[in-house]
This record gives sequence, structure tokens and C-alpha cells, in this order.
Amino acid sequence: MTLGLDLGTSGLKALLLDGDTPLATATAPLTVQRPAPGWSEQHPADWWRATERCLDELAATHPRTLAAVRGIGLSGQMHGATLLGADNEVLRPCMLWNDARSGPQCVELERPALNLRGLTGNPAMAGFTAPKLLWVREHEPEVFARVAKVLLPKAWLRWKLSGEFFEDMSDASGTLWLDVARRRWSPELLAACGLSEAHMPRLVEGTAPAGQLRAEWVRRWGFEQAPVIAGGAGDNAAGAVGVGAVRPGDAFVSLGTSGVLWATTAGFAPAAHQGVHAFCHALPGLWHQMGVQLSAAASLAWWARTHGVSEVQLLQELDQTPRPPAGCWFLPYLSGDRTPHNDSKVRGGFLNVSTDTERTDMTQAVLEGVAFAFRDARDALASAGTPLREADLLGGGARSARWSQILADVLGMHLHQIEGGEHGCALGAARLGRAAAGGDTGFGKPHRLRSFEPDPQRAAFYGQAHARWRTLYGLAREVSTPPPTAAGRSMGH
Ligand code: XUL
Repeated sequence: MTLGLDLGTSGLKALLLDGDTPLATATAPLTVQRPAPGWSEQHPADWWRATERCLDELAATHPRTLAAVRGIGLSGQMHGATLLGADNEVLRPCMLWNDARSGPQCVELERPALNLRGLTGNPAMAGFTAPKLLWVREHEPEVFARVAKVLLPKAWLRWKLSGEFFEDMSDASGTLWLDVARRRWSPELLAACGLSEAHMPRLVEGTAPAGQLRAEWVRRWGFEQAPVIAGGAGDNAAGAVGVGAVRPGDAFVSLGTSGVLWATTAGFAPAAHQGVHAFCHALPGLWHQMGVQLSAAASLAWWARTHGVSEVQLLQELDQTPRPPAGCWFLPYLSGDRTPHNDSKVRGGFLNVSTDTERTDMTQAVLEGVAFAFRDARDALASAGTPLREADLLGGGARSARWSQILADVLGMHLHQIEGGEHGCALGAARLGRAAAGGDTGFGKPHRLRSFEPDPQRAAFYGQAHARWRTLYGLAREVSTPPPTAAGRSMGH
């Protein structure tokens, strides 16, 4: 029996796995705090409360199953900077993967003398961990002076669970402090941020044992013996383990809060100029490429929130609307963009809205805008030597058949809904926990439940539409630049 814990942005999920069969889940929601425009934070104390809630629930509903757990695997939202002081106290809220404040610090990291792209294979992007530390050094020097450890979200959770500091290769890749080709910390890049290896957790592969549940928690939740905790994975690598994307060329589309197009690669295959992420896989000897957009299902969630309705209701309205959509455009850059534009300042919007435009037209535009951004990622990966023709679907947004079909048409790819797709990263985490506990190390592919084939006519239409949509980025970038004086706005009123 193994337990997967997936620390996501919108919630924490616990999954009990018997062999390869999911038995029970518990979830607890999380919220994001946005104290200033472009900022995105969570407090680790909330992650722990969510973990306690899920484990309390499983201990109450499935006591015997939970007691029999031998391995725990962790999956985590990537890139967040969790800063601990000398007594392991949390120094400030964690700055998350979609926090846009550190654009200027990325410029500093890209100075030629540092050779960032040569060492990591990746460009500096505002959501990554290293620029966040430069931001803290500049804007909160009193906090920076006290930093003793820098942890990604799931490494902090591991520390709470086991009292030990470990990080896996896939998540560590997103810090910009990892020498991704050699799978080791880069002393040069750490030094460029005023840090050293002493500030970092020890590196392990995702399947390796990396800590053991503390006696206190073993007693509290009634485990028969202390389960081993696996290295685990960043959420996307955990998703890859969950869908069996473990051979070169295996791909998935994740339609979660973020949008990810993932491709497993045999070797380290950087293409930094396209905003392609070239990271380690959670499994030894494997790497991957991915294109990331920051607001995929988050765009639909935002659109639903502005109307005070649920995403499900918006999608139902769309299914019931008899006429074809009116053709407005949506740019999903609510928190900036990573692939391909690497632009933390750009923001999203609707265009071509008329007096005839209805809410359903705009919902359709949101689904299409996100799909177009995926197509940008597909093109970026193709130009980085990884053309893709089919992929499995992961994430909450992929539960919508309509959105899945739009994606297949826009990407010109065969997309598959899979059994257990809703467990995604938690399933991968539990599988890694199983491997670390000495169990099965096979990461098979789940059954495919339904496939979405691109329709040639719609694919041709969307091919042209995407070419037009792509030109709107320049416009969005233009208007996202702040006006010369803040006072200008209020003049004349
Ligand atoms: C990947 C990324 C997101 C987060 C979401 O680079 O930033 O997919 O991992 O949790």
C-alpha cells in the first residue's frame, strides 16, 4: 500500500494506492494570496493544515488501509521559494510559480558572464526560484540575511513529515540552480544569488528513499510502521509517472491551473530561446521538455469568478447554445507568459467584442485562447526537435469533452482521456512511493477511455485562426506597458 500526496496550487490531494489501483482519496482546498499586482503567494502553514485534514480524513474513513502504507510519494507545485531561518522557521510566505514580480532580476541572471543558459539549458523566467531570491535580496534584505535553507513546496512538506531536507531532480531543475545535464547543484549559479550548497536540500532521484515519516505522525495517523518517503517529483514529472510517460517521445497535455505540454526526452535537450523548459525527469537517466502557460484552467476559473458562477455552468451554457460562436479572441496571459514569449509583464484580454457578443461567445474564446497558447507550445517544442502527434490528457480542464476536442483540432494532435486522469500527479507520486518502498518500478500507461481526433476542416480553420491570434501578442505587450504617469489616468475626470 502506498500514499501519494500532491501539493497543488488550488488544493492538496492524498491518494491511497493498492498495487496500481487507486482506493481512496481526500482533498483539501488551498487559496492563493495576491498582496500586490502580479504577486502570488501561499503560506506553508496552510499546506500543513491541508495535509493534516487529508490524513485525518483517510485515518477516519480508511484506517486499516492507511495503517498498511509502506511508501509515501510527494508531488508538488514547482518553483516556489520557501525560505527557512536557522531554526527552520518560515521567514515569509512562499512566492509561487506564477508570481510575476521578479522580471527585472531575470535580466541580472541572463548577464553573459554567468552563462546561465549554458549551465542550466533554460532561460531565466520570473516564476523560477533563483530570480525570486534576487528579488528578496534586493527588496527584503533583512529576510535574505536570515535565509538558512531554500526549499521548493514539496521539500518543505517532506521536512514537516520527516525532519529531513531532500529534493528530487525534476523539481530541482526549476530552480535555475541545477546543472540539469549533470544532475547536480551548480555552485556558480548558487553563488550568483548569494547562496551555497549548504542552503540547498540534498539531491535524489524521484524513486530513491528520501526520509521516513516521523514517529509523531506514525502514531497520530496509526501507521503500522514508519513509511519511507520517496524523492518524489515536481507536479508535471509526477503526472508523467502517473500516465506512464517514461519513454522518449511520450507526451501529455495538462489542462490544470497551468497549462503544460510535456514530452519525455532520452537526453538533455535544451531550447532556451523558445521558452522551452528542458528539465530532468523524476526517473534516473531521463529528461523532458515542456512548454508552459501560466493560466490555462486558471483562465476559465477567472472568467467564471467574474460572473459569480462555476466553470461547469459556463461549459454547460456553451453546450446548450444553438448558434456558432461569434468569433471574439482571448489572450490567456493573466499572469504573463512562459512559452514561447517568456514575458512576465504581458497581460491578457478579449478582442473583437461587439454588441452581439454574448457570454457564451466569450467562454468559447477563453477555451480557444488557451488552446492557441498550447499550439504556441507545440510549435516551440517542434522547433526544439520534438514534433508531437499524440498525447494523453491530464488535469481538471480535460474533463470537458468540448475543450478536449478544441485542443485536438487546434493542435492537430490525437488526444486521449485516460482512466484515473483525475488522479494525475497524486497517482504518479504514489507510484514513486511504491518504488522507494521496494515495490513495483513499472510505470505502465493507464487505459485510454476516449480519444479526440482532429477534424480536418476545423483543424484547417484553426490553423488560420491561430496565425491571426498570434499577432495579438504584440498588441497585448504594447498596452501592458504602464502609461508614462499614473496621474495621466485620472486627468479630465
Ligand atoms: C511548471 C509550472 C507549473 C507548476 C504548477 O514549470 O510552473 O506547471 O508546476 O503547479
